[in-house]
Parts: sequence; C-alpha cells; structure tokens
Amino acid sequence: MPIFLDTGNIGEIEKYLKMGVIRGVTTNPTILLKDGVKGGMDGVKKRSAEIARLIAPYPLSVEVTTNDPKMMLDQARELAALAENVNVKITIHGPNGELDNLRIVHELEKTHDIRINVTAMMSAQQCLLAAMAGATYVSLFGGRVNNMGYNACDEIGKLRNVLDAFGLPAKIIIGSTREVLNVIEWLEAGAHFVTVVPSLLEGMIVHPYSKETVRMFLDDAAKAR
Ligand code: E4P
Repeated sequence: MPIFLDTGNIGEIEKYLKMGVIRGVTTNPTILLKDGVKGGMDGVKKRSAEIARLIAPYPLSVEVTTNDPKMMLDQARELAALAENVNVKITIHGPNGELDNLRIVHELEKTHDIRINVTAMMSAQQCLLAAMAGATYVSLFGGRVNNMGYNACDEIGKLRNVLDAFGLPAKIIIGSTREVLNVIEWLEAGAHFVTVVPSLLEGMIVHPYSKETVRMFLDDAAKAR
C-alpha cells in the first residue's frame, strides 16, 4: 500500500486516515519542529506515541535527534519501545560523513530486532548499502535529488532492480515530494512507498475541471427540482 503522510500534524493525519488514503506516517526533526513539537526528546516521544496510537497498525517513522553513536543506540531503543508500529530513522552518515551510522543500523536490526528506516539518502548506492546493513526501509529524498540536477526516477529504477535482483528485503520510501506528479512517477519508477506532505495529497485529489464538473451536476440537479 503505497502512500505515507510526511507530517507530525495530528489533524492532517486524522483527516487523511478517515479518507482511507494513507498507510503510514513519516516524520523528521524539521517536520516535528514545524508542527509545534517542543521539549526535546520528551516532546518527540509524546507526539510520536500519540501518532503511533492513532495510526496503528500502520507504521510511524521517528528519527533520532543525535549523531553520538551511544546516544543514537539509546534513543533508538527508547523510540522503538513507544509502540509496536514505530520504526526508527537513522541518517546514512553524520553531518561530516562520519561512518558510525550503518554499524548502528546493523546492530539495532540484527541484535535488538528494531526496524530501521535509513534516511537522508540521495543516491541508489547509498540505499543499496543501507539495505545490505539490514535496514527495513531505505529513504531516498527524491525532490532533493531532482534539485541537484539528477533524475530521481533513474535512481529509484536502478535501486529497485538491484534490491530485487539480490533478494534484499528493504522497502524503498521516496520522500521530499515537491510536486503532485512525483507520487505516481516515483511509484511507477519502482518505489514501494512515497511519503507525501499533506498539501500535495490535497493537490492529488482536487482538480479544477472536477470542480467545474461537480458544479455543473449540482446546478442541473437544482434546475430539475
Ligand atoms: C522523508 O522521510 C523526509 O521526512 C522528507 O520527505 C524530507 O523532505 P524535504 O526534502 O522536504 O526535507
């Protein structure tokens, strides 16, 4: 089931959940800040527990807020303990290319049985190595890839082919949606999921010509009374 909502906004999640058009939620520290979460890790845990309860059994991805290896491990265990449907997001590497993260991903998946979503990835090769480390989800940021002048569809297609060819079970999530057309084109290119910001999901539903057509039906129904 291909669409996740990329938000920490409870009202937006409730709205699209009731329509039956989302199958999970993704967040990151930037999204949570924008959606009013304060209070450090306590605030993150409180909002995450609320979202996880609301969408269960669908998955929620929540990101660690540190790049210290020991603290990443501790936070990942705390976040995963919030609810059965919480997956923990860990970036592919640190802000200066530090290489601790995939070791932590591997340890959390294999030793602690915690589902990890490796995030902030911009290329198929990064995603391949995250999948080999054991990640349940690999998140490629399609909009950012396109903004760098590359074609996200090419990266998605190559990645899906390689994962399938080698029987790697990681699921591909494409985030960083910028345009309504991204959702279908990225799914068609091979993504298992696209995570969509609420405004774009509304843009997928509402069409100017549909508005005009509905108005015509209602006007003619009124005339026929
Ligand atoms: C994906 O999981 C991320 O939360 C998100 O889509 C990043 O998008 P951005 O490029 O708009 O920050």
